This record gives sequence, structure tokens and C-alpha cells, in this order.
Amino acid sequence: MKAIACEGLRKHYRVKVRRGFFNHEYSVIKALDDVSLEVERGVIFSLVGPNGAGKTTMVKVLSTLLIPDAGRAEVGGYDVVRQANRVREIIGLVLAPDKGFYARLTGLENLIYYGRLYGLSKEESTRRAKELLDLTGLGEDGMRLFEEYSLGMRAKLSIAKALINKPEIVFLDEPTIGLDPLSARRIRQLIKDLAAKGMTVFMTSHNMWEVENLSNTVTVIKSGRIVAVGSPSELKERLKLSYRIEVEIIADKAPDMNQPVSIGERGYPVVTMTTNKPSEDLVRVIDEIRGMGYLIGMVRVQEPSLEEVLTQVLSR
Ligand SMILES: Nc1ncnc2c1ncn2[C@@H]1O[C@H](COP(=O)(O)OP(=O)(O)OP(=O)(O)O)[C@@H](O)[C@H]1O
Ligand SMILES: [Mg+2]
Repeated sequence: MKAIACEGLRKHYRVKVRRGFFNHEYSVIKALDDVSLEVERGVIFSLVGPNGAGKTTMVKVLSTLLIPDAGRAEVGGYDVVRQANRVREIIGLVLAPDKGFYARLTGLENLIYYGRLYGLSKEESTRRAKELLDLTGLGEDGMRLFEEYSLGMRAKLSIAKALINKPEIVFLDEPTIGLDPLSARRIRQLIKDLAAKGMTVFMTSHNMWEVENLSNTVTVIKSGRIVAVGSPSELKERLKLSYRIEVEIIADKAPDMNQPVSIGERGYPVVTMTTNKPSEDLVRVIDEIRGMGYLIGMVRVQEPSLEEVLTQVLSR
């Protein structure tokens, strides 16, 4: 059984659009428009796409917060509409911003409260809450009032809350947004560890480097429709993205070469090329430069990135 499976999901919003002071019209926003996808157990699945593409709507439908207009979805084998309570028992959810905390309670007390809601005993709930404060890096801040929390502290507490019931499947809508680099790295490591232990992670992010380094599968959504699916390397291969090579030549002016030469940031001529055979071409270019009697300065080989995949897919 798949961790998540959905078919033909649709969610349209009817919105008022102002036309002058007294008039308005209705228009329809297709937040999800016939979305079908499958997520294997124990993988990190990332949903990416531009602002307003439908990512948060998708997370809300799968986590039973929104009822779809059409189509069906199963999470952990349970139907998100007919068996919503069963789904809620086995999932964890992080939405940003998280409104589900009590300002006048500490982070620890908030977590204990949620543990109790899931039916944990007071001792079990306290033990689990403390463990999660350490895991997310909140530690001693758990003893402070939630209303004093910074943006990043709130984000970490949301993740801790999502894990309090040891979910099988966790939905993380932009989990590292607002986190400093060290905290973000810690959360990414936590996500990896959870997946390694068999938890399924469904996340969204605008950080393509993060998505590329974490995800087993990436799905690109645009205007409520899925436009690409695959592992980061499959997506790059399918689009035949090439490497970019730059070789700096220590010379006063650009020599006459087989490749285009421009003047680089440091004022020296730089040979720039894109290729699918980076090692061969690099050696060839370096040999050519040496053959003309010049010294080589800086050499840079840039791998194709997921960001380029996204740029290509979205510009079609
Ligand atoms: N409650 C709502 N009422 C009307 N329209 C909505 C509502 N919620 C979302 N939308 C619209 O649905 C579309 C999808 O929104 P959604 O929040 O799912 O996008 P997103 O991919 O999460 O974007 P972002 O990257 O900015 O978070 C947008 O056009 C948005 O304006
Ligand atoms: Mg969103």
C-alpha cells in the first residue's frame, strides 16, 4: 500500500473581484485541478512550484483540513473525507504560520497539552515533549512562554508538535522558512532521520537546494496542475541539463580560441562553455590554453541544479 494516493483531486475557490467601488464579479481560482499522485512509504516527497500554485491547498486536503470538490485521496490507506478521523490519528502537520499554540503557556506546556489530546498519559506526554524539544533544538527555550518566541522558535515548536503522536506520515508546509542556517540544517537532518526510521515525509519548500538534497521524489505543480514528477537526478537527466565550465586564462587580452571568451570578474579572459561531457571538455580546453603558452587561473565546473529544472519546466 502507498503512503499517499490521490486521483483527480480538484479544489476550486470562488472569489470576489472588485470592479470599482460598488461592483464586483465572481471568478474561479483552480487551486487544484485534476491532481493525481502517489507517494511510497518511507520517502521524502517534495511538492514545489511558484507562489499560488496549490501546494498549501494540497497539504490541507491531504491532512483533512479542506474537503476536495472532486476526486479522492487516501492517506495511510484511509479516505481523507470518509475516514478523516483515522487519517488525523496517523499524521503530523506543520502549517506556517501555526496558530495552534497558547501564548500564555510555555513551549513545553503546549507540547504536553497536545500529547494529552492524543491520549498520552501525563508522564508519557512530558517525556515525549522534552525529547522533541531536544530533537528540534529548542532545549531550554521550552521553559519560556510561547508569546515570547521568535519566528524560528515558533517554527521549531510546530515541528515538535507535529511529531508528538509518532505519526506514520508527516506533512511539512515550508518547514525551514524563517530558520537561521544552523537551525535549518538541524531540521533537515531531523527530516532525514525520520525518513530513515520509516516515516513518510510530504513537504513543500521554495529552497531548491534543500529539496534537491532531501527528496527522493519531487513533484512540480503549476496553477493547480502537476507538470513534472521524478527524483532530482531523473528530472535533470530528462531535461538534458548541461554542466557549465569556466576556465580563466592569465593573459592581458582574450586569445583567439575555438570557444567563446569573455572578460571575467577578476579582469582576466574566461572561456565559458556548457556541456554534457564536463571532464573531457575541461581537459580539452585546458590543453588548448596551455598549448598557446598561457597559465590557467581559476577553474569552475557547475553541476546542473534542480533550480534550473524548475526554471525550465515552469517557463514552458
Ligand atoms: N481560502 C481561500 N479563498 C480563496 N482563494 C484561495 C484560498 N486559499 C487559497 N486560495 C487561492 O488558491 C491558489 C493556491 O493557493 P495555495 O496557498 O495553495 O498556493 P501555494 O502553492 O501554497 O503558494 P505559496 O508558495 O505562496 O505558499 C491561490 O491562487 C490562492 O490565492
Ligand atoms: Mg503555501
